[in-house]
Amino acid sequence: MTEHVHDAGTHHHGQPTHEGAQQSGLNLHEDADNAVDMWDGMYRERARIWSGNPNPQLVAEVSGLKPGKALDLGSGEGGDAIWLAQQGWTVTALDVSAVALERAAAHAAETDHADRITWQQQDLTEWEPEPVFDLVSAQFLHSPLLPWREFVTSAAAAVAPGGTLLVVGHHPHGLPSWSHHHESGMFFTPEQLAGALRLDREPWFVNVLTDRARTVTGPNGESGTTLDTVLRATKHA
Ligand SMILES: C[S@@+](CC[C@H](N)C(=O)[O-])C[C@H]1O[C@@H](n2cnc3c(N)ncnc32)[C@H](O)[C@@H]1O
Repeated sequence: MTEHVHDAGTHHHGQPTHEGAQQSGLNLHEDADNAVDMWDGMYRERARIWSGNPNPQLVAEVSGLKPGKALDLGSGEGGDAIWLAQQGWTVTALDVSAVALERAAAHAAETDHADRITWQQQDLTEWEPEPVFDLVSAQFLHSPLLPWREFVTSAAAAVAPGGTLLVVGHHPHGLPSWSHHHESGMFFTPEQLAGALRLDREPWFVNVLTDRARTVTGPNGESGTTLDTVLRATKHA
């Protein structure tokens, strides 16, 4: 891919991904046989895992869009949903983990925009999307129990005509040296996304399909680079 944005990395207080969990010595509960146990277990490890800041690719890609109805898939501790609400979006924040949702709602209650966010506990493997959202965002929705092709297909189906799909995840060949997940099938390239979603066909117009490098800090304070796969596409009205 051609576009490489080197982020200064100053506002990544914790990586909003599996990487962050490993950096801080968290147990990922990968032996859990269901998503609720896996992710509730992960969130219970600490009072707070992630930074609360919005993901940088969300801010980069959504800042110019006219607010409407947004869906944040795998909303975690709510940093993205709260940022979207602050930008004027009406947000549905969906996650399988009730622990994460409760924490996110408590965080939102400290802002002036809590009433713009609906928190929804839902396992995406059992979810039937309706095409009603002006924006569907899925950021680092990596889980050993959630095939990425499944969630991106559901995310695309939830976009209303004229709406925007934003998918951001780890590029499989761009993980930092300290990552334990080098061989993992949880991650995807821009090309794999394009193929899975058939982006060369109607109803999609591709605004951004690229990978972007970011500077991140490792478990021992070392500096590294991680590569984000970024897709922003518009569904024809
Ligand atoms: C790596 S975290 C990313 C959280 C957030 N998007 C961020 O970037 O900080 C993945 C999130 O997806 C949620 N998740 C995992 N499997 C899920 C599923 N099957 N259905 C719904 N949410 C799921 C987890 O609970 C977790 O909050």
